[in-house]
Amino acid sequence: MRTCILMGSLRSDGNTAHLAKYFMERMGELEAEVEYVELRNKKIYPCVGCKCCQDRRGEYGCPQEDDVAEIVDSMLKSDVLVFATPIYTWQATPPTKALMDRMYGLNKYYGKAPREVLNVGQAYALLTSCGYDPDRGGADLLDEVMRRWCKHSGTQYKGMYAFRDKGDPQAFSSAKAQAGARDFADEIIRTCSR
Ligand SMILES: Cc1cc2nc3c(=O)[nH]c(=O)nc-3n(C[C@H](O)[C@H](O)[C@H](O)COP(=O)(O)O)c2cc1C
Repeated sequence: MRTCILMGSLRSDGNTAHLAKYFMERMGELEAEVEYVELRNKKIYPCVGCKCCQDRRGEYGCPQEDDVAEIVDSMLKSDVLVFATPIYTWQATPPTKALMDRMYGLNKYYGKAPREVLNVGQAYALLTSCGYDPDRGGADLLDEVMRRWCKHSGTQYKGMYAFRDKGDPQAFSSAKAQAGARDFADEIIRTCSR
């Protein structure tokens, strides 16, 4: 089992990074291979909607020259993609959202390439933190985005683990935060049969 964690927090030692650390430790104990990609250090241009990728058969095919092709290579080697992002304005952070848009080229739905999903069946999961109650206005919108995106793009949504930021950064090192992130890793390993 290979997992790629796409860390979209702009704070390398922030709340979401703490959750990802516990998640990753548990994945290691379960002998899953984990790659940790810090998106804030990568050059990720926005999708410009040229749809060139839609004419490229069997390959990602975006002509932009930045770090996304390399990230996509890592993604395609993985069984599970974990989108780790705090909630910013009810959504994923800018680098995460930019990457999500740039993943358009994985679905050949709209151009000359034969209809194909390059990562069909791949598992996606959301690891997040937010200021509001996660299920009541904090992370529920992004959770729904992930669900619809996976349905649209032929991938499997494994759900989210969200932990609330009530203003005490120590809470992200608490037994509760750790247990939640570790249980989420257990659940993903248990339910992934790809
Ligand atoms: C610019 C900005 C926008 C935010 N927007 C939201 C929001 O819409 N909903 C929410 O619940 N929390 C929001 N928050 C709170 C963060 O999601 C929360 O503090 C999170 O734990 C930060 O994680 P980090 O340390 O990984 O950056 C926002 C924080 C910032 C800085």
